[in-house]
Amino acid sequence: MPPESSESSFSAESYFETQLPPPSLQEDISEVRDFVRKQKDVGRKVVLVTSGGTTVPLELNVVRFLDNFSAGTRGATSAEYFLKAGYAVIFMHRQFSLQPFSRHYSHSTNPFLDFLEIDPPIHQRLSAEMLISSPPHITVTPSERVDLLRVLGTYKSVQKSGTMHTMTFVTVNDYLWLLRAVSQELSVLGRNAMYYLAAAVSDFFLPRQKMSEHKIQSGKGSLHIEMDQVPKILKPMVDEWTREGYIVSFKLETDPELIIPKACTALERYGHQVVIGNDLNHRKYEVVFVSRRSAFTKRPDDDDSGFQIHWLRINPSSASSNTRAVKEIEEDIVGELTDRHKIWIEAASVRL
Ligand code: PMT
Repeated sequence: MPPESSESSFSAESYFETQLPPPSLQEDISEVRDFVRKQKDVGRKVVLVTSGGTTVPLELNVVRFLDNFSAGTRGATSAEYFLKAGYAVIFMHRQFSLQPFSRHYSHSTNPFLDFLEIDPPIHQRLSAEMLISSPPHITVTPSERVDLLRVLGTYKSVQKSGTMHTMTFVTVNDYLWLLRAVSQELSVLGRNAMYYLAAAVSDFFLPRQKMSEHKIQSGKGSLHIEMDQVPKILKPMVDEWTREGYIVSFKLETDPELIIPKACTALERYGHQVVIGNDLNHRKYEVVFVSRRSAFTKRPDDDDSGFQIHWLRINPSSASSNTRAVKEIEEDIVGELTDRHKIWIEAASVRL
């Protein structure tokens, strides 16, 4: 029998009344407010991209924690394509997970030191005297130059245009407080705001009132912990925090049969715009868009179920897991979403 969970004891409201905000919250909010105001002044659309996994600490003086699987590839890659499509991006990610642009030179898959060269070549340690008096040049391995220039050029232009704002979380508590605050700030953009919730959010947590202050001792044999369910934050997000935003959540499953039914249930329960379903093992080359059917989004191949199911697939052999991928599925995901977002914005003016 699979483990079962009991009913959540926390509503979103009671969660925020009882769990403490991260210490830097006010500073984070004021930076986001400035960023959003600048984008609003120039009429730019803004997308919040959440990325990476959240942790659940087991102790107040935290030594141990549970983690959620996610390298941050989906979020970091998508953020680059949103920037390319003309959006400003708030990139809210798990500390030390992959980030836009630098992801191409991740220390584990493509360490940058491996393609830097010393010119003229030197095969011994450089003395301090040599480093000061006649330091050699550093060059890039010729075969890497074009790729590096492309990434670096885009990175520098994004930095100059000020269209990306980065913020970090570690715990699920940080994530929830930040998500609420950023959504409330972004709501001033109305339909021009999109939310792309790709982070892997823990479903269970240990309220601070139940946590041990110090490191849990091992002397008493096995460890039994009862966790509470994390409140389902999509509901207040849609109903209260950002009523007009275009909200895209992700549904991760390991049993492919569950993806579409669970996505439909989420749409019915929370009332947001799109669920993108993905199977853990196929997520780099296959995703499914599930949305409610409406006059504005109807496609010729729609059935009568009330839901629109749209698969996006790329050739698995071109969807390499390393940075030299010929094709990244996020390019198509973002293309599909920016088209839908445009229709969503236009639909508002049609209804007026
Ligand atoms: O980073 P990568 O390694 O590239 O992996 C990408 C990914 C697989 C992590 C990503 O594509 C993905 O699927 N992210 C969502 C993972 C997740 O949290 O799935 P879930 O089925 O547990 O949650 C579904 C949705 O419920 C989430 O979008 C979230 O907004 C919502 N949720 C979750 C918890 C919670 N307390 N309240 C919620 O509303």
